Amino acid sequence: MKKVGIIGVGEYLPKNVLTNADLERKVDTSDEWIITRTGIKTRRLVSKGQAASDLGINAAKKALKDAGLAAEELDLIIVATITPDMQFPSTACFVQQGLKAVNAVCFDVSAACAGFVYALVVAQQFIAVGTYKNALIIGSEVLSTITDWKDRNTCVLFGDGAGAAVLVPVKSGGILSTVLGSDGRLNELLQLPAGGSRNPATHKSVEERLHYIKMRGNELFKLAVKLMAGAAQDALKLAGLECKDIDWVIPHQANIRILMSMAKKLDLPVEKIYLNIDKYGNMSSASTATALCEAVKSKSIKKGDIVLLDAFGGGLVWGACVIKW
Ligand code: ACO
Repeated sequence: MKKVGIIGVGEYLPKNVLTNADLERKVDTSDEWIITRTGIKTRRLVSKGQAASDLGINAAKKALKDAGLAAEELDLIIVATITPDMQFPSTACFVQQGLKAVNAVCFDVSAACAGFVYALVVAQQFIAVGTYKNALIIGSEVLSTITDWKDRNTCVLFGDGAGAAVLVPVKSGGILSTVLGSDGRLNELLQLPAGGSRNPATHKSVEERLHYIKMRGNELFKLAVKLMAGAAQDALKLAGLECKDIDWVIPHQANIRILMSMAKKLDLPVEKIYLNIDKYGNMSSASTATALCEAVKSKSIKKGDIVLLDAFGGGLVWGACVIKW
């Protein structure tokens, strides 16, 4: 089995900024409530007509440039998204078209906020066994299209964005361990109830606002802390490392309080957790992807650092991955 590492990263955040003050004008909320309960100050929103593949293509171009790879050289493109351009074709196929990555095999993964970690693990398998020489993975979301802007419980949380990474075989370091988990029994805690084959779109489904995210936030909060901490411990153990060995945690950014509770559970200094939730909110699969990119570009992550990716989302699904940078 080949070792696999990341050689390029890129991100794209749409330019429109939505502040807490803007949200105060839409629903019964306050800047103070949003900041203290979630840590979010602003989030980005797409312009009209911008879809997940548009964001993903922009992030991918930067990641390819960073990796020094031409689009035609790509063997595999995996897009993690819960807001695909269309039910089908896959968003990965739209990205392929946009990049002119004519030689790539393309598909999407649906693993909500853990999507980028799931995509990374899937891509790693293909490269490790030698099926493909490289892979482009993308977490891209336009959550503003499935956010109920009348529901204060959820509309303050989400934003749009995309992050990408290029994976290839490496001689040393790279991905040291991975852990994925799922528990479908808890699917009702976080869902988009309509628009699929269970509840196809009807006038009634639209009237009942079933095409928007439904979330039982309080129950999810406790599970997020438990499952993200557990995944981190399992991934570290598999890598033969301990919490004290971690230089950076790149987590899914659902709520700053989840991350502070997780740090406490792991006895991990909070300064080691890379945060961008204040700027972008929860961007599902794009949160981990953009945080990784920012941490690399800002030189927070340095060569030789031990980096832990850790994510959790609707499904339920979770995943963690230890990387030697
Ligand atoms: N502004 C003001 N008040 C609000 C708002 C708001 N935006 N939203 C909720 N409230 C109120 C509630 O109505 C409630 O009022 P009540 O006590 O009078 O009934 C009160 O605030 C407390 O509500 P809780 O839901 O208990 O608030 P909590 O502290 O749990 O915070 C939150 C809510 C932010 C959603 C939190 O539970 C959370 O972050 N949960 C985890 C989310 C998560 O991890 N999701 C998974 C990943 S996302 C994905 O996969 C797409």
